[in-house]
Amino acid sequence: AQLPEPAPVLLGFTALAAARPDTILVPQGYTARAFLPMGTPLLGSYPAYKNGGQNTGAEAEQQVGAHHDGMHFFPLDARSTHQNSAEGLLVFNHEYLDPDLLHPNGATGLPRPADEVRKEVAVHGVTVAHIKKDAAGEFQLVQGSPFNRRITGATPMELSGPVRGHAKVVTKYSQDGTRTRGTLNNCGNGFTPWGTYLTCEENWAGYFMNADATQPREHSRYGVGKTSGRYYWETADNGADQYQRFNATTLAADASADYRNEPNTFGWIVEIDPFNPDSVPQKRTALGRFGHEGVIFGPVTEGQPVTVYSGDDSQFEYIYKYVSNAPYYKATAGGHLLNDGTLYVAKFNADGSGEWLALDINNTALQSAAAAAGVVFDSQADVLLNTRLAADLVGATKMDRPEWGAVHPATGEVYFTLTNNTRRTAAQIDPANPRANNATGHIIRWKESSSSVRSFHWDIFLLAGDVGTNTPGTNITLTADNHMASPDGLCFDANGLLWIQTDMSGSQQGDGPFGNNQMLVANPATKEIKRFLVGPMDAEITGLAFSPDGKTMFVNIQHPGDRSTPTNLTSHWPANDGTSHPRSATVIVTKDDGGVIGS
Ligand code: FEO
Ligand code: CA
Ligand code: CA
Ligand code: CA
Repeated sequence: AQLPEPAPVLLGFTALAAARPDTILVPQGYTARAFLPMGTPLLGSYPAYKNGGQNTGAEAEQQVGAHHDGMHFFPLDARSTHQNSAEGLLVFNHEYLDPDLLHPNGATGLPRPADEVRKEVAVHGVTVAHIKKDAAGEFQLVQGSPFNRRITGATPMELSGPVRGHAKVVTKYSQDGTRTRGTLNNCGNGFTPWGTYLTCEENWAGYFMNADATQPREHSRYGVGKTSGRYYWETADNGADQYQRFNATTLAADASADYRNEPNTFGWIVEIDPFNPDSVPQKRTALGRFGHEGVIFGPVTEGQPVTVYSGDDSQFEYIYKYVSNAPYYKATAGGHLLNDGTLYVAKFNADGSGEWLALDINNTALQSAAAAAGVVFDSQADVLLNTRLAADLVGATKMDRPEWGAVHPATGEVYFTLTNNTRRTAAQIDPANPRANNATGHIIRWKESSSSVRSFHWDIFLLAGDVGTNTPGTNITLTADNHMASPDGLCFDANGLLWIQTDMSGSQQGDGPFGNNQMLVANPATKEIKRFLVGPMDAEITGLAFSPDGKTMFVNIQHPGDRSTPTNLTSHWPANDGTSHPRSATVIVTKDDGGVIGS
């Protein structure tokens, strides 16, 4: 019998310096290769990618989408041995798009040409790509595989859980309030213990408009615009119902004749079964409605409920936990565990304790706070549709933009990125959000109480910032090897290393001391932190997955060259030919000696 491989010595590489290349930098001894860039032919007639925004809407529906984000690798035999590191389904999100790069001359004026809108809807959503190592050991797309799939901003979906069938999700498209079309602004992701993918709807509110004099709370609290959607899809010049639905203004006598409720069918976590290409994605409403970023399961135990954490990435929003009512059993686990449970929101106390406050219509604390504020909820579905409002009422802690979470594989501790919040004033600081004008963000962590589902203990793992930034109460002081800002993507590998991805934007991305967006890796046991990867110009690093053997790492590069105009490109990655439009892409990282990534 083969002896098991010895445990790798971790963080054995030399840290990268901060830098501004228009390429991918990885440490000596590692190789990075771009894979499945936006526009890669994926299915159907496999239409070739055309540089310069020349593909049509119909072609984009058969190609890999734009703005790669959250990602997971499912070994093809995930439901049996979990061991295949040579073939699997790579599933990844497409968050949004840059109009200046997606079309030949940027977006055409109003009304929007229908085929431009069709293309923009098509590049959103999720890609499922069947990939397999070739004879040389390099992953390639399996052309013709029935698993290859695009889910877009137009794909039919079902609402499941408490909100299914509620009056506030009745639309002209779904008169019984059970269905909707598409998923949008898919940023962070997760995956379930039963082998399905979870995609998170983040800044979905911006795609809609509602010109009513008074918007309903389900729109106003989430930032639905008054005059137009961010890409003006509602103006598409073919007048198609598929696009007019982005105008949620009241236009008819009742909700079954217009799209006033369309935005209420967004803001959810969506479960996708990548192994069943005909499966209908399910919007899991029991997990709450907000600007969903990451979603992460706590450790599962046979016979115990499942625990799922999720963050709401907006300034002064919250961190949530869902606990199923039914127990988990490996043999029967499935999406039903995400349809019936209790949603909690976090309160971080000054003494290092924390409380999970139930957003349950039967919780007397929620009832009395609602009564005092004159707020009426007609059902648990109504509470979930207005998750942010319910969290306000119970007095949860307003955080500095919660992004991704990660659960330590051995200790079960939960780490969560708080990317930044420059609007927090000195009067608004609290122990969990300790800095005013928090431009660089931090990482908080907690451990659940062993005796109560409602309590935890927390501390701050890391304050991000420039060289010299110290995290009080720890020996972490950042150096040129690991200074960072705006932590966003977060993931533990099987060896307990914490991978941290940054999403600096604006001037911090363009000219700060941190170089381009990057990925670092921390050993929480030793507090050693090193910069592992630096991305191309004007790109974000987000999305991370590993093969089961830990020897292939998949990383997403989003929006390279996002400060470009049609005539002034700030990046040409990954072509690097001095002329091509930049494209979001996955990067495959391997170690030249075939070892485990991070060793
Ligand atoms: Fe799309 Fe919260 O980053
Ligand atoms: Ca992003
Ligand atoms: Ca993000
Ligand atoms: Ca971000």
